[in-house]
Amino acid sequence: MKKNEDDASLALKSLSSGRWVLAMTGASGIPYALRLLEVLFDLCEEVHVVVSDAAIRVMHEEHKRKGSSGRKLSRSQLSTEELIGRPDRNGKVIFHSPNDIGASIASGSHPCDGMVIVPCSMSTLAAVSNGLASNLIHRAADVVLKENRKLIIVPRETPLSLIHLENMTKVVRCGATLIPAMPGFYHQPTEIQDLVDMLVMKILDQMGYSLDLVQRWGKAAEEDTSVKLSMI
Ligand SMILES: Cc1cc2nc3c(=O)[nH]c(=O)nc-3n(C[C@H](O)[C@H](O)[C@H](O)COP(=O)(O)O)c2cc1C
Repeated sequence: MKKNEDDASLALKSLSSGRWVLAMTGASGIPYALRLLEVLFDLCEEVHVVVSDAAIRVMHEEHKRKGSSGRKLSRSQLSTEELIGRPDRNGKVIFHSPNDIGASIASGSHPCDGMVIVPCSMSTLAAVSNGLASNLIHRAADVVLKENRKLIIVPRETPLSLIHLENMTKVVRCGATLIPAMPGFYHQPTEIQDLVDMLVMKILDQMGYSLDLVQRWGKAAEEDTSVKLSMI
């Protein structure tokens, strides 16, 4: 009996490690990535973050910090404190350079549940869909696919060329989940944060974390009905 319990706990361990890879690339949409990092900081055991050079450039445009000198953020300044205003006292967020092809996440033997690429540029999408493991982001995505783990890609570009569309089709055929950066409006957003949260909630749903960051479709109607019923 004891052995069975041990086996069960081993099996559970292998199903979910609470470790995720979060890659940010040079497409517009850095606020999605930062909000996701903020949520994962509380939820996950370990988050491995890889930020491409182009993402640092886009971050400069989209994440202007209050009181910052206006100078471009350097790679060495990347930290949870800098990005989400939370110091990482337990060392659960590990930043990797995209050039570090020997990082832990470059190997399938490193336990992890999967990877999210948000925002995903068309350049990174092309690399992933064609198996080019030339930097750590591409390699980690390649590993996640070959190990049959969850790969969530959040592409952002408009309009889309046939090359983009074909690359999207290919990664989905290979097992990736595509969540285009297309927030909905049916939850009646009043702030940009509502739009960001809508998309981040969709990503979290795919990761297996069910968090109501915004009101889900059907919930308002249910609440209205229950109010009406309690009034009868
Ligand atoms: C401000 C800014 C916004 C950009 N937005 C996009 C975008 O939305 N989608 C995209 O595919 N590329 C976009 N690019 C171009 C990419 O950053 C560029 O193709 C880069 O080589 C991507 O490299 P990476 O995939 O290694 O991050 C943008 C570039 C800049 C400077």
